[in-house]
Amino acid sequence: AKDPVRVLVTGAAGQIGYALVPMIARGVMLGADQPVILHMLDIPPAAEALNGVKMELIDAAFPLLKGIVATTDVAEACKDVNIAVMVGGFPRKEGMERKDVMSKNVSIYKGQASALEQYAAKNVKVLVVANPANTNALILKEFAPSIPEKNITCLTRLDHNRALGQIAERLNIPVSSVKNVIIWGNHSSTQYPDVYHAVIDGDKPVRAAIADDAWLDGEFIKTVQQRGAAIIKARKLSSALSAASSACDHIRDWVLGTPEGTWVSMGVYSDGSYGVPAGLIYSFPVTCSDGVWSIVQGLAVNEFSRKKLDDTAEELAAEKQLAYLCINE
Ligand code: NAI
Repeated sequence: AKDPVRVLVTGAAGQIGYALVPMIARGVMLGADQPVILHMLDIPPAAEALNGVKMELIDAAFPLLKGIVATTDVAEACKDVNIAVMVGGFPRKEGMERKDVMSKNVSIYKGQASALEQYAAKNVKVLVVANPANTNALILKEFAPSIPEKNITCLTRLDHNRALGQIAERLNIPVSSVKNVIIWGNHSSTQYPDVYHAVIDGDKPVRAAIADDAWLDGEFIKTVQQRGAAIIKARKLSSALSAASSACDHIRDWVLGTPEGTWVSMGVYSDGSYGVPAGLIYSFPVTCSDGVWSIVQGLAVNEFSRKKLDDTAEELAAEKQLAYLCINE
């Protein structure tokens, strides 16, 4: 039997945490033959709720779940973890300035970066979910210099999956028939969902199948960009089950590899590919093999796409600047 993998979920008493931990314990993230030990972190005001989640995990009697660490102590939470899914953060509340929210998250991610650096397994793979996801990941990278930059990513797989879903709905085909959409840039409303290279049924271009460029260049992009807000409006709560499921997809493909001929979107540390400034955490098309992601190279970027890639990079550069202002205060 395989040795258990230790998976940390921060913000585990929250909405996404509640959807995510049972998926991990069922093998959705790492496979049905991979035992896991769940590490769950939250803050003291949520300690009782966190203990409730732990009780339910015990009650669910998951065969793959070999242990549970539920704590408000960040060092204990990070001890020897192989995978870290960072869902905890400070949400924007009504009337709050962007800078105040950034400042709170910078201080959270600075602290958690140090704890991961000190206590996590050396090869820990990190996925940041909490918003602003790209910039939180960048802060985490800056303050955990011994963790390879290749091991620090943020979640744009939910946006990727949303784009697949919209194409499938429009064509009235199963979502599994659609692949190779791309989310470029920030996990925010400036992200660019690109279908120029997307295909259905293995090799048929999505653009030809849909044959409605006005929809693809307009409503489709907007729907994907604004989907988070639409879910909040409908549910009065933000996306949780889809975020949790996409986080599992992200880690599973990263660890176990992407299928031949298929790429996915991940927020990763830019090396300057596609003219994106190096040093931003930016969502790119990637393939994964042997636990390592690589940016898909050589895709054509037309003028329409170029502008959108640049706009979202510009927003990320501004976020980075704001984050640094907060660090230096
Ligand atoms: P939530 O508010 O239900 O849960 C967040 C949890 O984090 C709470 O239990 C809170 O106590 C905890 N927390 C706060 N500060 C913490 C800290 N310093 N250490 C550990 N835990 C801490 O929020 P929800 O709905 O679960 O969303 C979590 C985050 O995920 C939010 O930032 C949200 O914006 C983001 N999100 C990102 C998505 C993506 O695609 N990247 C999609 C959906 C949500």
